[in-house]
Amino acid sequence: MKISSLLVLLLFFNGGILTAKAGFGTPDGSEQWGYARVRPKAHMFWWLYRSPYRVEDPSRPWPIVLWLQGGPGGSGVGIGNFQEVGPLDPDLKPRNSTWLRKADLLFVDNPVGTGFSFVEDTDALVTTDEEAATDLTTLLKEIFNKNETLQKSPLYIVAESYGGKYAVTLGLSALWAIEAGDLKLKLGGIALGDSWISPEDFVFSWGPLLKDVSRLDNNGLVKSNSLAQKIKEELQNGLYEDATNSWSDLENVISMNSNSVDFYNFLLDSAADPVSLTALELSKAIALNRYSRYLDSMRATPGGDGDLGSLMNGPIRKKLTIIPPDVIWGGQSGDVFSALSGDFMKPRINEVDKLLRKGVNVTVYNGQLDLICATKGTEAWIEKLKWEGLKEFQAAYRTPLYCGDDLTRGFLKSYKNLHFYWILEAGHFVPVDQPCLALKMVGNITQSPAP
Ligand SMILES: *[C@@H]1O[C@H](CO)[C@@H](O)[C@H](O)[C@H]1NC(C)=O
Ligand SMILES: *[C@@H]1O[C@H](CO)[C@@H](O)[C@H](O)[C@H]1NC(C)=O
Ligand SMILES: *[C@@H]1O[C@H](CO)[C@@H](O)[C@H](O)[C@H]1NC(C)=O
Ligand SMILES: *[C@@H]1O[C@H](CO)[C@@H](O)[C@H](O)[C@H]1NC(C)=O
Repeated sequence: MKISSLLVLLLFFNGGILTAKAGFGTPDGSEQWGYARVRPKAHMFWWLYRSPYRVEDPSRPWPIVLWLQGGPGGSGVGIGNFQEVGPLDPDLKPRNSTWLRKADLLFVDNPVGTGFSFVEDTDALVTTDEEAATDLTTLLKEIFNKNETLQKSPLYIVAESYGGKYAVTLGLSALWAIEAGDLKLKLGGIALGDSWISPEDFVFSWGPLLKDVSRLDNNGLVKSNSLAQKIKEELQNGLYEDATNSWSDLENVISMNSNSVDFYNFLLDSAADPVSLTALELSKAIALNRYSRYLDSMRATPGGDGDLGSLMNGPIRKKLTIIPPDVIWGGQSGDVFSALSGDFMKPRINEVDKLLRKGVNVTVYNGQLDLICATKGTEAWIEKLKWEGLKEFQAAYRTPLYCGDDLTRGFLKSYKNLHFYWILEAGHFVPVDQPCLALKMVGNITQSPAP
């Protein structure tokens, strides 16, 4: 989609270009939002919520969580905010388990082209995780450098799914900018929720896991493993686009042999999971470029699966006032995914290692029932860390976790700056499936002074 020059003019008149400085928001200052022009023709939309539960504690500053959605092309401003952790649900009713109870929340539509973010030319889309991290670092400079109040709050980057790959590259990029004196903020830590850190380890986990829980038979297992092996060889030979295509083939093979298992919760059938319909994280549907058609169908059925699309393109865009008329929420998502198809299958284990060696707190959390980023695959890439504390981490005692009653809801293992949460009875969308434990967890991750 090309944005006309008329639109750019309009945007200027609306103040869109000035928003990062002047700021738009609610009269009481509890919400601020705006566009940052992170590069020529590349505009990133952000939305910051200040918590009404804020507690002043001199020894523990009130934290800010930056939420990074997956996809690539999934909207944090839409999905993470309204379907997972923000103050309002998609019916605009208060969400009791909102993470605002523990922190301020910063949602961004990342990378550019996602959600309300947009590019004026598809050449301006990012093609690597590093490019996305550079844009996000530029955004953080815009938001934090001029605001001493915000600088007092440590920033915790919390990611879901493909967002994990941006989170670790952003973590390093932000640290370098901080060290160089170009970015004024305190990085508190990084949390990787059901994150696509090592695609090879995930594709090898799918067959054995599904066979063990009766969703594949041995024939399906053999086909799955043979495609996973093909992906491994493509990755070894640097054929990253081919690996992305084989990954899509593998998803099809798994779907056919499992009678359409849901990749976000292996106890369900595909699309039986309400969030998965709109999230499309790491989804075959996006890979096959059916995403925009899918969005069209959502817009056509208000009250149906299309709730989020109608909400974002209806009352939310009206509230925000600065969304250019030609920009449709999610309109460029398919392009965002395609532009990253050469980076999609690249692992980011080395970046996790670098963060650990720099002493940054890294938390990994995983839903027990997730398939696409299965715990089995996450444990496999953790074993590949070169970090010196790994042996002690593996040997450490695992603490059971509860929420409200005496049912075991999860486990936590920590050694030095690596922390791992196993979240029981949750699929890919942990805050949706285990809201109580997820809230406690984010309180601990951010060292929140909230009770
Ligand atoms: C709302 O959250 C609070 C604290 O997190 C909890 O004690 C309460 O039971 C929750 N209420 C509902 C209706 O879920
Ligand atoms: C700094 O950020 C805080 C919190 O979002 C906001 O209330 C305040 O208006 C900002 N200050 C300036 C000068 O933008
Ligand atoms: C890192 O995590 C540990 C354990 O939760 C905590 O004691 C420490 O304060 C954290 N450090 C930072 C910088 O958040
Ligand atoms: C949070 O930290 C406290 C104190 O270290 C611990 O007792 C509790 O189990 C932790 N809970 C979660 C969900 O991390």
